[in-house]
This record gives sequence, C-alpha cells and structure tokens, in this order.
Amino acid sequence: MATYPKEIQESIARVEATRPARLHTNPPRLSLADQEALLRGFHPDYKAEGKRALKVGPSWGELVPHEVADLLEAYPLIDPATINLSQVDYDVDVLVIGGGGAGTVAAIWAHEAGIPAERILIVTKLRHGDSNSMMAQGGIQAADKPHDSPAIHYLDIMGGGHFTSDPKLVRAMVEDGPMVIQWHEKLGVMYDKEPDGTMVTIHGGGTSRKRMHSAKDYTGMEIMRVLRDEARSRNIPVLEFSPAVELLTDSLGQVAGAVVWNLETEEYQIIRAKATVLATGGWGRLHIQGFPTTNHYGATADGLVLAYRVGAKLRDLDAVQYHPTGAAYPEQLVGLLITEKVRGLSAQPLNREGQLFVHPLEPRDVESAAFIRECTPVEHGGRGLGVVTPTGMVGVWLDTPMVDMIHGQGTFQRALSSIYRMYIRFDIDPTKEPILVYPTLHYQNGGVVMDENGWTGIPGLFAGGEVEGGVHGKNRLMGNSLLDFNVFGRRAGLAAAAWAKQARLGSLTLAHVERFVRELGEAQVPPTRRAPMLLPEYRGEKALARMVDLL
Ligand code: FUM
Repeated sequence: MATYPKEIQESIARVEATRPARLHTNPPRLSLADQEALLRGFHPDYKAEGKRALKVGPSWGELVPHEVADLLEAYPLIDPATINLSQVDYDVDVLVIGGGGAGTVAAIWAHEAGIPAERILIVTKLRHGDSNSMMAQGGIQAADKPHDSPAIHYLDIMGGGHFTSDPKLVRAMVEDGPMVIQWHEKLGVMYDKEPDGTMVTIHGGGTSRKRMHSAKDYTGMEIMRVLRDEARSRNIPVLEFSPAVELLTDSLGQVAGAVVWNLETEEYQIIRAKATVLATGGWGRLHIQGFPTTNHYGATADGLVLAYRVGAKLRDLDAVQYHPTGAAYPEQLVGLLITEKVRGLSAQPLNREGQLFVHPLEPRDVESAAFIRECTPVEHGGRGLGVVTPTGMVGVWLDTPMVDMIHGQGTFQRALSSIYRMYIRFDIDPTKEPILVYPTLHYQNGGVVMDENGWTGIPGLFAGGEVEGGVHGKNRLMGNSLLDFNVFGRRAGLAAAAWAKQARLGSLTLAHVERFVRELGEAQVPPTRRAPMLLPEYRGEKALARMVDLL
C-alpha cells in the first residue's frame, strides 16, 4: 500500500536490502571530540548568523536567536497609562499563569500546601491542558529501578547538556523523579507495565540506563488526563482564553499578579496575587531558523517576555532543541513529532542508500546534527545522501519495520499506536515501510533563571516547566521535560504557597513596563514590534517559507 513515488521506492528497496545485515547491530557511539565536530559543523545553534546580542534588559549582551530577540526587544501590547489598576477583577493568593503541565501541577501542590482552592487561579491562553505537555509522546525519565539510581540519571543529564546545567537543579530533579512516578500511580496514570506489574522502561537518546516510563506513545496526554482531573476535583478555578500580557508589580517591588487579555470579550482584566507562578511553556511556535515545529499553537515565548520586563535573568537561550525525527513526508505531517521511542524500540536512521550513518540514540543535538549533515548537499560540506520528497523537502529514513521484526509482530501498533494512526491515514504502513524524517523545532532548552524551589530571584515570582532554564543546560535529553514540569511545577507551587502565606502587597503598578519602554528608547529600538506574541501569524507570504531550505 505504498504511496511513495517511484524514485523514493527505489531507495526503500536499498533500505530493505541492507536490513538483514544491520538488524541486530548499531555503530558505536561517537567520541566526545567527534560529537563536538559534528555539532560545530551542522547543528543550527552553531550558525553565528542565526543569533544576535540583546540590546536591553538584565541579560544584556547575551546571544539569542533573532526570533527571540525580536520579542524580548519589543514594545508592550498595552499602554500602562490606559490600564485602570484600581479596578481589580480577581484577588487571589496564588496566580498560576499557564494551564499546561507545570501550571496544573503548581496549582495542585499550592492547594495541597493549604491555600484554599478559591484563593488559587489558573489563567491560560487557550483551554486548560492545551500545551506541549499534552502532546508529549515518548515518556518520562525517573531512576526507580534497581539497576539505576538518581546519581546515574544526574550524570546522564550533565553529560547530555555538555556540563552546562545547574547542578543544584539537576540534583533536585533526579532525586524527586521516583516520587513523581509514585504520585502519578496513586492518582491513576496508566503507565505501561510488564505482566508481573513492574514498569516497562526503555532507553532514550543519551541515557545509560533504561528509565523511560511511558503510556504507549501518548504519555503526556495520559499524565495530563489525570492531572487535569485532579485539579478539577479540587475545584481549582481556571480562566481559559485569557493570556497574560504583562505582570503586575507593587510599590514594594514585588510581583503582584498580572494583566490578562480575555480573547473572548476582548477586555483586559486585572488579577492581584500575593504569589505568581509563571508556567507559560516555551518558544516552539517561533519557527526558529525557519524550521517546522512539533509544538502546540500557544508556544510563543510569552513568559520570557513578561519575566524579562520585571527584571528576571534568562540563561541558555542560545541553545535551541531540534528533535531529530520530525515527519518529512507526506507534506501534511511535516514537522510533527515522531517520538524518540521509535528509535528506543530499535528503528534505525538510514540515508538514501540504506546506510546506517549514526547510532540511533545519540543525545538529541548530536543526532539532529548527523541527520542534517546527511541531508546537506556535498557542495555545502554535507554528505548529500538525503531522500528528496516531491515537494523538495529532504529527509532520512527511519526504518520502522524493524520494531516488529525485533520485538515481535504487533509491537508497533501496541506501543506506538498514535504514530501508526498518523501514517495509516496516508496509506503508509510504518510496520511495513520506513518513514521519512528530518529535524524539527521541539524545545526551549534554557529560560528564566531560578533556584531549586522555582524562585526567580524576583520577590513573588516563581517559575516551572519549559519557561525556566538551567535544568537541561544547552541540550535536554528525552523524557526529562515531563519530569521537569512535575518536579519544578510542584516545587514552584509549594514555594508560592509558602510565600503567599506571609506576603503583604503594596499598591499595584506597571512602572516596570514604563521603565522597560524607556530602556528600549535609549537603545534606539524602533517601536515597530510588540510582544508578547500570544498567537503565531500564519497569514501572508512568510507562512509559505516555513520549510528548511536545503536545496
Ligand atoms: O521523542 C519524544 O517522545 C519526545 C520526548 C521529549 O521531548 O521528552
């Protein structure tokens, strides 16, 4: 039932011809020196022209992608002079900005710490749960098996992030990992189990132990199903379609809530809060360097913009995560996530000659760089061995039939049911034919600086999940984002609750916004751009150029 065009089918024949010889063997992992050379040559982060130094704010001088600098150096959506701060619409102890994984976890734990449900408020841009957390496929890492330990998990994270992570944050995350899985089990998350009831765990890229726990290939959705139910059964209020457009401060120099924009009534609303948790997710919808994306529609870096204007420092924003296996064919699927679990279950990446050109489970940045090198034309220094699709996209093969060949018939449909359904709709059967993949924008490695309790260093402001930086350094490993939002969502929720219990607020102000606007003027930034972006723009000519130009 192949729908691949004839030239592509010829390449598939070569994949099939090389399969018996490579079925149970993989090339050795690259040495650190070889990894470094590959990254320097082909990872998009190493293209100097992709970034610029920030001209304003607390991270002045740091290099960030142009798409991110454009937002951090933009003027506000609101005119502070026209916002009536004396008319408070909601007055709460803990405001959680973001209704994805980190926000939901933070609200649950703030409640657990004794803040009454009606004194907590989640505000979210779209619906409760609309987030990358919901779309996560492959799994969550936690060192809870006898062959493993938090210390080994720690070493994997530090190495995978090129020793750029904040050791305190990594330690906090790996030590909390087993507790998070137990908590999920208690709440009702249905993780994959062996017949004897033990958890199924597999490898992810860059892991030295099998510690990836999953629920088929919709792990995020399963975790979010349960977390959202938990928040609802605690009656924690949620304000949907209400993105935050600015944080509020007070006369004592604390963060004191937010201004939100009600997308339905088109009105600003003022939320006063003793503690605020920023859980707005990342930047995956910015299509950095023109890459397609795995991300949900709301991932427009709003939290970075808001935090930066109140003086929070940012880190590691020069490091963008491109997931190695975004779909490259058919056109309707371009950029969508093909979970790393497919490689965790033995599928190998191959070039158009059917050659296995890299170990399938190198850390993400290295694996992506290897794919890009394979697809880059020889005249541009690459190997020119990618498969070109009818629309001009280039990709490499992921030899998906190997999953059933190695693990038994039916494994793919059972363990990777959403990927199977994704392709079968286009008459491509991944249990019989390989699929084409190419790196796709996936994650914000860095973010707002914080301590182990999610405190940003700004009184009253806490952070959790993809918006924060320091845990993953310059390269996150698979399965650590689901763990991150559970660990730091919880820690931020607990710390926000403790803060709220003793906080006293002064009078509300937007003076920090006025100060930031003055700084932009002094840096001669023209008033042509406004942020936060809130929703990405897909109208007009720019939308058509959202494909990596490799040809
Ligand atoms: O490949 C994946 O399933 C993605 C997981 C992650 O980003 O942690």
